[in-house]
Formats: sequence, structure tokens, C-alpha cells
Amino acid sequence: MVQRQLPNPAELLELMQFKKPQLDGKKRRLDGALTIDDLRTIAKRRTPKAAFDYTDGAAEGELSLSRARQAFQDVEFHPGILKPAPDVDTSVDILGGPSALPFGIAPTGFTRLMQTEGEVAGAGAAAAAGIPFTLSTLGTTSIEGVKAANPHGRNWFQLYVMRDREISYELTRRAAAAGFDTLQFTVDTPVAGARLRDKRNGFSIPPQLTLGTIINAIPRPWWWIDFLTTPKLEFASLSTTGGTVGELLDAAMDPTISYDDLAVIRDLWPGKIVIKGVQNVEDSVRLRDAGVDGIVLSNHGGRQLDRAPIPFHLLPSVRKAVGDDFTVMIDTGIMNGADIVAAVAMGADFTLIGRAYLYGLMAGGRAGVDRTISILRTEIERTMRLLGVASLAELEPAHVTQLTRLVPVARDASEAVVR
Ligand SMILES: Cc1cc2nc3c(=O)[nH]c(=O)nc-3n(C[C@H](O)[C@H](O)[C@H](O)COP(=O)(O)O)c2cc1C
Repeated sequence: MVQRQLPNPAELLELMQFKKPQLDGKKRRLDGALTIDDLRTIAKRRTPKAAFDYTDGAAEGELSLSRARQAFQDVEFHPGILKPAPDVDTSVDILGGPSALPFGIAPTGFTRLMQTEGEVAGAGAAAAAGIPFTLSTLGTTSIEGVKAANPHGRNWFQLYVMRDREISYELTRRAAAAGFDTLQFTVDTPVAGARLRDKRNGFSIPPQLTLGTIINAIPRPWWWIDFLTTPKLEFASLSTTGGTVGELLDAAMDPTISYDDLAVIRDLWPGKIVIKGVQNVEDSVRLRDAGVDGIVLSNHGGRQLDRAPIPFHLLPSVRKAVGDDFTVMIDTGIMNGADIVAAVAMGADFTLIGRAYLYGLMAGGRAGVDRTISILRTEIERTMRLLGVASLAELEPAHVTQLTRLVPVARDASEAVVR
């Protein structure tokens, strides 16, 4: 028999701990976001459909992106036990300088479209967190504007080599003059990928007002107020004639870029140079032998070739082929700090985040990007503690296996699973 008594008013009072309401709506919104997926949900609610889809979407059937995310979800970790790690050190040296965390912000084009603070929010948040920020050739803040937002931290510049080479050379010189320390030369855009969501939405730059856009704008007034009351949304470094992003890319990009262009850029650039968009072992080795400082294994967040190799799957064979001393970075599909820990364990020196940053930006401008970084930092630290490692250098392939939902089939018994 359970013994019962009348409720004790003092005990009841103790239980009634009402929290003081948070009156700052943005803070309330961001504090409530516990994962990058939560930030994505807020971002979707607050951003016009065409801008959200431009960011969230990928090419064709979006398989490159969904598979890359799936590959990280299929990681199984193997913790060591009774290995206390009361403090974890998440810092790394990358490309000749420090980073407080094993990730930096990836280059993204047209960033002020997502939220008006754009690259200034990204560069400021990166500065505060002590991680590198990358400005895209298709950015909406100038090289000098990013330098002003992150004057003492590390800025990297992403280069597209245009049909009109002189435009690219001039940007390279300007970034060097502004003290950017690393150049990411992106090589996976001979033509634009088919971003079908943009086509279906009739998305163009500058955005066009249609009946649909206006109806979609009604529950998202702040984006439109920002858009209409801040400087015009345009590429900071290029003049263009308008159209979808794909059309703009096709007009500007040169499908004939080659190793000869790499040699010219190498001569122009005084700092570190990495090639972004590498997708097989053979190219990784060739680039190492060509003397670049590193590579980014990436399929451009699934926005170019659909059904492309999953960078996380490619990583072990690339690491094995290029050796331990060559810098290998990885991006595409990172939505959790645990993804970053898994990538480092499998041999990545560093990682880049694209959408995870942009979801934060859309959810709350600069404070939203701060929130992205703090969510990933917490997840990295917690995962390291749970694995029983105190520093990134202690992570090794033995900490990770890959559940076999998405494993490439070996073509014959002697052949590696990925080229
Ligand atoms: C909206 C958007 C714009 C992008 N623009 C560029 C760009 O201008 N140059 C570039 O090299 N990569 C660009 N990327 C690719 C990112 O640098 C990065 O490779 C990709 O976002 C990583 O995948 P994730 O979004 O899953 O993190 C863009 C990605 C997104 C989502």
C-alpha cells in the first residue's frame, strides 16, 4: 500500500520555479536551437522560399548532398574507457597558423541574400571564435570589408578563375594586399550544376517580385525590411547582368581552366594555396606533387556534379596515398560536431562548414553564426570527452567505423574501393 498525505504547500512552492521570460526574441529563438537542424528550421521560417532554397538546395536529385550527410550519420564511434579527459584541446595548426577549432567557414556566394549582415557576420563570428573565414569570389562584401570585420584573425580568399583572367588576377592581388593568408582555388565548376529548386522557384539575381514572392513575403517581413533598407544586394567584386545563379556562373566561369592556370596563380599568390573540389586519389597525388600546400576534398556541398564521390568516403584512401605531411581538408554534409570529429579521426587536418554557417546566419544574423559555432564546439568537445581523447591528435581511424549502407563496390578483389 502506498502511503498518502496532503500536499505540503512549502514543497509545492519549491517546485514552482518559473523562469524569467526572455524578452529578447532573437536570443530566445537562438537559445532554443540545440542543433544545426534546429537552426535550419528557424532559418526556413524566416527566409523567403527562393533564398532559403538557393542555400539549402543542391544539384539535380540532391543525392551528392544527402549521401554525404548520410555517410556522417552512418559513423559508429569506438570510445576508450577509463581514460579521463577532463579538459579537451580542440585547437589545431592549419596552413601555417592556429585555429581554435578544427573547422573554418567555407566560401559561399551571395551571402547577403540569406541575411543582410552576410559575410560581415561570418567574418566577425570567425574572429570571435578564433577560426578562419573564407570569402568567395562571388561574395557580397568586398575583400577590404571582410578585412575590416576580421582585422586580426585569419581570412582566406576563394578564387574562381574567370573567362576574363585579369578579373581573377586582380582579386588575387587585392586579397594578398589585404593580408589574406590562404587562397582556395575552386576547380569543380567548369559549368554550373543544375540547381533545380532555383529553376522551379524562378529564382534570379537580383530577386524579382512576383505574386508568389509577395505572398511568401507576408510572414517574413524582417527579411524584406532588411533587404529594402540596406545597401543594394550585389556581387562585391564582379559586375554582372542578372539571371539565375547558374546562368551567372556559366557566363563567368571558364570550362578550360587547367594546371597552367594553377601555375600562374601560384606565381601571383604569396601565401598558402589549396585546391578546393578534389574528388579522387589520382588528382590528390598530382596536386601534392605540383607543390600546392593542400587540398579540400569536396563536392561543393552537392551543388555541382550529382552522384559525386562522398568526400568522407574518399578521405582514407587519399590520406594513405598522399602521406601524413600533406594538408587534406574536407567539406560537404557537416551538420554536427561529431561529423568533424569523425573526419579528423579518419585523417582530415581540417574541415569547412557551408550550410551550417548559413543556417545560423539566416536564423539570426551575427548572433546566429555565433550560435552555429557554439553548437559545433559543444558537440566536438562532448564527443571527444565521450571518446576518451584529450586532443585532436589522439583521434585515429580506430575510433570510427562506417556502417555499410553506402559503401562503394570493389571492382575486383585487388582494387581499392575508391579510385
Ligand atoms: C549557398 C552556397 C553558396 C556557395 N558558394 C560557393 C562559392 O562561391 N565558391 C565555392 O568554392 N564554394 C561555394 N559553395 C560550396 C561551399 O564552399 C562548401 O563546399 C559546401 O557548402 C560544403 O557543404 P555543406 O554546405 O554541406 O557544409 C557554396 C555553398 C552554398 C551552400
